[in-house]
Amino acid sequence: MAKAEKKTVRFVDTSLRDAHQSLWATRMRTKDILGILEAVDDAGFYAIECWGGATFDVCMRFLREDPWERLRQIKAVCKKTPLQMLLRGQNCLGYKHYPDDVLERCVAKMCENGMDIFRCFDALNDVRNLEAAIRAVKKYGGHAQGTICYTFSPVHTVANYVKFAKEQVELGIDSLAIKDMAGILTPSAARELIAGLKKALPDLPIEVHSHMTSGMAPAMYMAAVEAGAGAVDCAVATLSGFSSQPAHGTMKAIFEGLGYETGLKAERLTEIDNYFKALKPQRALKANAGAEAVDVQVLLHHIPGGMISNTRSQLAQQGALDRLPEVLEELPRVRKDMGYPPLVTPTSQIMGVQAVLNVLSGERYSMVSNETRQYVAGYYGRSPAPVDPKLEKKILGKEKKITCRPADLLKPGLAQAAKELDPKLVQSEEDILSYCMFPAVALDYFQWRAKPEGERDPIPADTEMTVAKAAAEAKKAAEAPAPAPLSADDARFAAIGRQFVALFGSLGGNLKVDASALAAAPAPAATAAPTAAEAAPAPAAAPKKTLNATLTGTFYRADAPGKPNMVEEGATVKAGQPVCVLEAMKLFNPVKAPEDCKIVRFLVKAGENVQKGSPIAEIE
Ligand code: CO
Repeated sequence: MAKAEKKTVRFVDTSLRDAHQSLWATRMRTKDILGILEAVDDAGFYAIECWGGATFDVCMRFLREDPWERLRQIKAVCKKTPLQMLLRGQNCLGYKHYPDDVLERCVAKMCENGMDIFRCFDALNDVRNLEAAIRAVKKYGGHAQGTICYTFSPVHTVANYVKFAKEQVELGIDSLAIKDMAGILTPSAARELIAGLKKALPDLPIEVHSHMTSGMAPAMYMAAVEAGAGAVDCAVATLSGFSSQPAHGTMKAIFEGLGYETGLKAERLTEIDNYFKALKPQRALKANAGAEAVDVQVLLHHIPGGMISNTRSQLAQQGALDRLPEVLEELPRVRKDMGYPPLVTPTSQIMGVQAVLNVLSGERYSMVSNETRQYVAGYYGRSPAPVDPKLEKKILGKEKKITCRPADLLKPGLAQAAKELDPKLVQSEEDILSYCMFPAVALDYFQWRAKPEGERDPIPADTEMTVAKAAAEAKKAAEAPAPAPLSADDARFAAIGRQFVALFGSLGGNLKVDASALAAAPAPAATAAPTAAEAAPAPAAAPKKTLNATLTGTFYRADAPGKPNMVEEGATVKAGQPVCVLEAMKLFNPVKAPEDCKIVRFLVKAGENVQKGSPIAEIE
């Protein structure tokens, strides 16, 4: 009998990135990571995933940490195991396409600071959005991992996925990830997909990434590895399950039972798990405590786990939680209309919000977000199937669709960013890059950092403070009277309209909505049921006319940091003219004048937080 060949499967640890992003709202601190990192480095993982868009953003926004410094500190400890990150193709670490010069410098600096493996993905699987990223990774000596964002639809065939993998191989990728961001890849489909890839590209290493949302991931990993995948993404037990990855321990036992070598050290896994178990009460979101362990509905609507809980809590705050089933039913229809995009940042937010709009407005596509319009016009890349032609015409009107690589339309951005920044605030080239990707967040962080230690706003000790506050707000909102059903009544429509705006602004964060139509609508009549936020602030005696916040967010008078004010006090403005902006979760949303009027004075300072419905300027 021939000696059996040794079978191996490698494990990538996601505990320091995707897992805490999925379960702890990305709130793991650098000190939390450093406290256990030696054990993580020694556990026998193939790679440690520790960086990506959300971790980068949250570092500066909430934790007041420099994400680049986090990377350097991790690298200083990890001598055995390569570091891995998630790179959103031309979106780099953000939510929109960045110019090639910004992307290339980012990748160069990531390599310099210690990143080894770059998982490059594009939400639409449009290879043109991966070109510059993969080229830069190769140029600066990184391992370029290509990605297939997995979804299923009539146009997503094995043959099409193989074609897309080949396009990435031509760009020089070193390996390929199958990114099953919603946890909907079945074992049989994985077997078929990987068999197809292995037949066409036998030498290309394949790694699979999934989520436990539907409960299928362990079975899928098993089928994928048996079909030829070489590595799987898992997390330590405390950070596994629900919308996160399967646990290392589970998969180790399964694979070892099948005769595979995993290279994992059991005692190290236990040590890491105990560490995070002790940390969990401080970091895990209590709001997630009621989440179902398994959600099979995801197989129908494909929404990644984090997005669902977000949608649910936002609808609850608007008193419209009862519409959630309709939204989830509408989403597959929107996906079909839009040419079956996979749902992952940013398409998950765009399609999710459009579905909400379609349900709450009562007429499909009577309201369209700016992002949906841009998607239809080709600014995010090529949709997998054509957008429904009638709908395309309705949305675009006379506007022309673009057919080139979207980033070809962007001017270089580095020099401009450097010019905008106050040199006193900038400590490194990395700072300029952080600013390129998250201008407002980075600037706010730099200003905080520049203050003497005693004068800085405190950082919440842990998430529980924020969580307790959010939970109290959500409870208050849920107890408020539900909005009246839709009617043709203008006033009532305006009230519902404001709910849309609040919803868009907060759903996924990166959606800009043209609120002019809503802002211009008359104020709700006294008979209209007040929304929770409207009922709350009611100024005692306010005979003066005011411009009110269309959503809860941070107030700014310029539409980008460093730019002049949009409108000065005392100026007259036309109806619909943008007066100021509210930044709500990563996006600038213009607030427009409700009528021709004079802006007498602003009632809040730039950088201040305002509640939806509260006055921000006195007008005449
Ligand atoms: Co993931």
